[in-house]
Amino acid sequence: MYMKWPAHGGQPSKIFELTGINQNEKIYDFSANLNPLGPPRKIKQEFLQSFKQIQNYPDPDYMEATKLVSKHENLPEDHVLLTNGGAEAIFLIAHLFSGQKALVIEPTFSEYKRACEVYNIDVSSLSLSDDNHFTLPLESIVEKLHEVDIVFICRPNNPTGTMTSIDEMKIIIENASKYGTTIIVDEAFIHFAPSEYEDLTSLVETNHNLILLRSLTKIYSVPGLRLGYIIANQHKVNKLRSKQIPWSINGVVTSLLPYLFADETFIEHTKNWLKKQLIYMKAELTSLGFYVSPTVVNFYLLQDDHKNTEELFRFLLNHQLIPRHTQTFKELEGRYLRLAVRNEEENKYLLNVLRLWREQQ
Ligand SMILES: Cc1ncc(COP(=O)(O)O)c(C=O)c1O
Repeated sequence: MYMKWPAHGGQPSKIFELTGINQNEKIYDFSANLNPLGPPRKIKQEFLQSFKQIQNYPDPDYMEATKLVSKHENLPEDHVLLTNGGAEAIFLIAHLFSGQKALVIEPTFSEYKRACEVYNIDVSSLSLSDDNHFTLPLESIVEKLHEVDIVFICRPNNPTGTMTSIDEMKIIIENASKYGTTIIVDEAFIHFAPSEYEDLTSLVETNHNLILLRSLTKIYSVPGLRLGYIIANQHKVNKLRSKQIPWSINGVVTSLLPYLFADETFIEHTKNWLKKQLIYMKAELTSLGFYVSPTVVNFYLLQDDHKNTEELFRFLLNHQLIPRHTQTFKELEGRYLRLAVRNEEENKYLLNVLRLWREQQ
């Protein structure tokens, strides 16, 4: 239908331009998965103060900022490497494994594959099937481990919002170690997952074939700041650091870091708020007859009666509501829309527009 679909969400003007639909002043952007409760208020207050940082080079080793992140994660400092967003982490890891073989489980975040292409990594893929609600194909992954050098697993997975248990992850990591295969787990959205879903930090010390990747972008709603980090053993962290460009992370973001972490209840508060909103949204959307992927986080896949979603996509856009298309996600190819969980007013607006859609069917 369209010339070229943008590869990422959060680009409303581009979507309006491509579809030829007029953009009003007030829009509802459901295409980027950012915490509607953020950024933390302190950031706004401190932002002007951080202006003075633009006159200085940042510390090339980011000592203070690394200390803060490792304290936040309860990890030794030498297990943490700050990166320019989760995106740089993905590309640094791909750089380290240049020319080798990777496994990717589709549909997932597109940058794993792109990074592999940049670094001549041969990519094979396995699929999540919608027939079994996008559950990770554990047995097929284990069978493939001896054929590849690295496996990218997105946990929770973008775009499905689904989560693999720590026990299943242990099976993959332990089997992978037999073949010297490294497991890369992207936990960019882990801070939104209910507390019963443990992150994998505790496994890093004992599993030298495990690399974790985190991002502060989503949970603190600061995509313009660009801060992420890698968690791995000291040896891997040093190797990855050797590939990083100097001053990759800007001084403004590192000076704001203490204020991002200042409110220690922020993540817990977000989780509790989101849990209630998700229960509400899932119930409402299901009662309207939509399929919702079994998400545990702040976005989900939506489908209307197995139909292609192009018509619904345009209907939402005509109501100034921007979903994330899935044309560029392998295995989805437009059959679903991805929607973020926004604030209560916006979520209610979405439900009202979807009710209108139902009425006109
Ligand atoms: C799963 C996943 N990992 C990493 C990233 C990159 O995050 P950042 O904005 O921190 O570079 C994204 C961004 O959409 C993502 O969805």
